[in-house]
Amino acid sequence: MKLIDGKELANQLKEGLRQKTDKLAAEGKRRPHLAAILVGNNPASESYVRNKVRSCEQAGFESTLIRRPADVSESELLAIIDELNNNPAIDGYIVQLPLPDHIHEQKLLLAIHPDKDVDGFHPMNFGKMAQGMDAFLPATPYGILLMLEHYGIETSGKEVVVIGRSNIVGTPMSILLSRKSNPGNATVTLVHSRTKNLKAHTLNADIIIAAIGIPYFLKADMVKDGAVIIDVGINRVEDATRKRGYRLVGDVDFEGLARKVSFMTPVPGGVGPMTVLGLLMNTMKAYLGR
Ligand code: GUN
Repeated sequence: MKLIDGKELANQLKEGLRQKTDKLAAEGKRRPHLAAILVGNNPASESYVRNKVRSCEQAGFESTLIRRPADVSESELLAIIDELNNNPAIDGYIVQLPLPDHIHEQKLLLAIHPDKDVDGFHPMNFGKMAQGMDAFLPATPYGILLMLEHYGIETSGKEVVVIGRSNIVGTPMSILLSRKSNPGNATVTLVHSRTKNLKAHTLNADIIIAAIGIPYFLKADMVKDGAVIIDVGINRVEDATRKRGYRLVGDVDFEGLARKVSFMTPVPGGVGPMTVLGLLMNTMKAYLGR
């Protein structure tokens, strides 16, 4: 089994961005600027946003973190979004999800100007993506496409199974891999919690993308020899031997699959860093498009 090292690839691509942004700065131009809105203190969201800020530094981007407490009003968040939409110093921004229950998530995401929607969550970008038009691709699927490309994993004509139908990973991933493009041209099956005999589908897959949010969901008896496994899961499981009391595991039984598959992403160090890289690439695109 060959490890798909997302961390190493993300670092390599961040270095490329760094060279571009340093050149811009040397020419007296401003650097790309990403902002993030973080509501409350969900530990996973805190960690993701920290990674995003650190990655901006590595790539030579400016970053701004806007924090509000969990009881912030929807109107205050909409006012922040309006300010960011109109702020010429900001190229793109994200609203870190999930949001507290009293905030209408869709209403906020619709208020983000599509030209600054570097998460690719606005229906304008999602619709353009689905039709193969130029758009900000959702960061996780974008990062996965870059990994498949870099590792020379052929998708054309292959059987791909995507597990999970979320708006931010499973659904866009299934669309992107079935599009007439490269990577793409795959025969894609999207399986989910109501799928009957899920194992019959995964056993037939050349490439499996697991994005279901259940630790160790995909087991060795569910995959065929030589399959390619992309593990999107980032699940916290209790672990008393760790100082922080938990460890991160994917949606895949990594140890069990290791002897059977051809390529696999680890957790951590696989898809996670490439998601952040996708976000940086989108921010660069937003910067260049203005
Ligand atoms: N929460 C989990 N993943 C993501 C992501 O890619 N973007 C945002 N904004 N929130 C998330």
